[in-house]
Amino acid sequence: MRGSRVAIWLYAGMIGVPILLFVFLVLNFVSAPYSAIGMRASLALAAMGMIALGAVGMDEVFLHRREGAFGEVPKQLVLPAVMRENTKHIPGKGRIITVRIKRFNSTTKNFETETYRAKADELQTVLGALLDIKAYSDPTLSMRYSCRMGICGSCGMEVNGKPVLACETNLLSSLDTNGEIEVQPMHGHPLLKDLVTDFDSFFEKHKSVGANLYRKDEKEQYEAKRIYKQTSGQTEKFLPYSFCIMCGLCLDACPVVNSNPNFVGPQALSQVYRYNADSRDQGAANRLVGIDSIDGVWGCEFAGSCSKVCPKGVDPASAIQLLKGDAMKGFFEKGDVDEE
Ligand code: SF4
Ligand code: FES
Repeated sequence: MRGSRVAIWLYAGMIGVPILLFVFLVLNFVSAPYSAIGMRASLALAAMGMIALGAVGMDEVFLHRREGAFGEVPKQLVLPAVMRENTKHIPGKGRIITVRIKRFNSTTKNFETETYRAKADELQTVLGALLDIKAYSDPTLSMRYSCRMGICGSCGMEVNGKPVLACETNLLSSLDTNGEIEVQPMHGHPLLKDLVTDFDSFFEKHKSVGANLYRKDEKEQYEAKRIYKQTSGQTEKFLPYSFCIMCGLCLDACPVVNSNPNFVGPQALSQVYRYNADSRDQGAANRLVGIDSIDGVWGCEFAGSCSKVCPKGVDPASAIQLLKGDAMKGFFEKGDVDEE
């Protein structure tokens, strides 16, 4: 703040000094008695102008240093909160509430907490408030979203420390005891910018466990030979695990993922169970070999937090315990085609 106030005075000086200089030069020209005073004053003002320009330049350098363009800045520095408010243009009626956003600065690798005001009626979601903030207060705010209806799994973030889908989270019901909410990116994934996290390793883990139907006959893998009918009992075995939308909330909640980045995680393991339990599949034995390790099922400490936060009720914790049982058997080969 101090730096910017100094800059305002200096910029004012930069405009004022040339005007005064011009006035003295005119006086110097029209009236001889002014010539000695005018000449000295002109030189003095020119020198002041040069100093002012230099100081403004330094101020710019300091501003850039704060943003991390030059040199190192202390790690995990949390900068003081800045209040940004522009609610009068937000359409509609509603209560004005305070939203604290812990933004990740990808240049400095620090978090910066900024405080905004948002309008909230009883239907407003956290994502809706963030989009209002982006539209009316701060266009630089970044978040990921797409469907706005809990289907695409893009808008995962932490609200008051809990991993949630922002588009499914009601704003007024999320207020803390001070009547405010705090939003921050999920810490169980690498950070990209503000509230946006990097899902590359998440998708890699999903891919690595072979989360797709597998048929031993390679041709059949791509061209179905017939209709593979299932009884309702067979479908029920895997159906609850097939609702995963790959939002990554379970990884954010998992204490093991947060201490061992190589742990394949609850999402991928729940999908192993989903395909292993499918009567049309013939790849269970291979998948089990891949996850029979400390970075696979045996890394799970059964905290259960993954199942608690899953917005689709997938219950990865139970899937992992069932896989542990299958791994204990030492042999798991099923998936003979049901000929019904
Ligand atoms: S298991 Fe649930 S929390 Fe985990 S990625 Fe799938 S839908 Fe999201
Ligand atoms: S925007 Fe698609 S799940 Fe939230």
